[in-house]
Amino acid sequence: MPQGPITSTINNMADVWEAYRDELDGVECQVRGNLDSSVALVNTVAGHILNSGGKRIRPLLLLLSARLCGYTGRDHHQLGSLVEFIHTATLLHDDVVDDADIRRGQRTARKVWGNQISILVGDYLYSKAICQAVDFRSQGINEVLAEACKKMAEGEVLQLYYNGNPSMPEAEYLKIVEHKTAGLIAAACRMGAILADASAAQQDALFQFGQHLGIAFQVADDTLDYTANGERLGKTLGQDLRQGKATLPLLHLLHHCSEQDRRMIIDRMETRTLTEEDLARLIRLMSDAGSIAYAADRARSYIDKAQQDLNLFEDCTAKRALSVAANYMVTRDR
Ligand code: IPE
Ligand code: IPE
Ligand code: MG
Ligand code: MG
Repeated sequence: MPQGPITSTINNMADVWEAYRDELDGVECQVRGNLDSSVALVNTVAGHILNSGGKRIRPLLLLLSARLCGYTGRDHHQLGSLVEFIHTATLLHDDVVDDADIRRGQRTARKVWGNQISILVGDYLYSKAICQAVDFRSQGINEVLAEACKKMAEGEVLQLYYNGNPSMPEAEYLKIVEHKTAGLIAAACRMGAILADASAAQQDALFQFGQHLGIAFQVADDTLDYTANGERLGKTLGQDLRQGKATLPLLHLLHHCSEQDRRMIIDRMETRTLTEEDLARLIRLMSDAGSIAYAADRARSYIDKAQQDLNLFEDCTAKRALSVAANYMVTRDR
């Protein structure tokens, strides 16, 4: 278990994965063990997505937060596993809402088994996670999880409310991102602190850290939807605009392009069509208008805030790992 003040060995994300491999294996073990429904189809569908190569960022942040606060036990494996279950539930639902065909480089559950199964297995994973959380008999953990789940649903609904609207204010975009993505990441960080019996100040600092990190994470995801290598990302590029979603790089472009280009973008949002040529043109326009750089700067500013949230803690390996993980949120390519 990496602890103590040896900070020089962690310089990049590969070092973090390496240093905490045993811990993450512990989470994987719980993930596998918890897929134990008596209805085989539930395990098949959930296993399809759970074993398809997710980054396990949320469990990682949870276990690092616990270690940062001095936790020495092993219950964070189970807590990490249930956070991954909730994340997976949101993905099963999100792929239905977003009509997504590909995730993590393979066909989405909804594409293989249909929307109904995908939604219901998502519901199962949510409920299963809540059952496991209840076993911790911790009011704090139950409260933070319930709040995060509520916020996620609100974020997704607010996003639907603005669907197809090219005039969505940036503040509303940020509200969506904070609710649908940052809430669970912040909850994961706070749960690690709760498990470690950390002080209220430490819990709050880690929650803030997760909140800032989570916003940056989604802004980066929204940028990758335009700029990534599709194969590496494992998702279909341009899917946000194709689904009528105006995200930060597009909102910036809409304020900085010609009337003709603006009309073209709005047409594609309304008709939900976007060819490869359209996408290539959009990326060029975004690059010329500084929209990609703008989104990257905004994401970076949230990471800077997240780094400051860690100031409360003494230097140690877990703090170094969290700091490296924070930078990875906005430098990742998948
Ligand atoms: C995808 O999350 C959904 C967002 C909140 C952007 P991740 O990028 O963590 O997905 P996986 O689990 O690694 O596939
Ligand atoms: C993340 O938003 C949604 C959730 C938090 C569930 P996206 O719709 O951008 O996520 P991806 O790109 O499909 O992974
Ligand atoms: Mg989606
Ligand atoms: Mg996305």
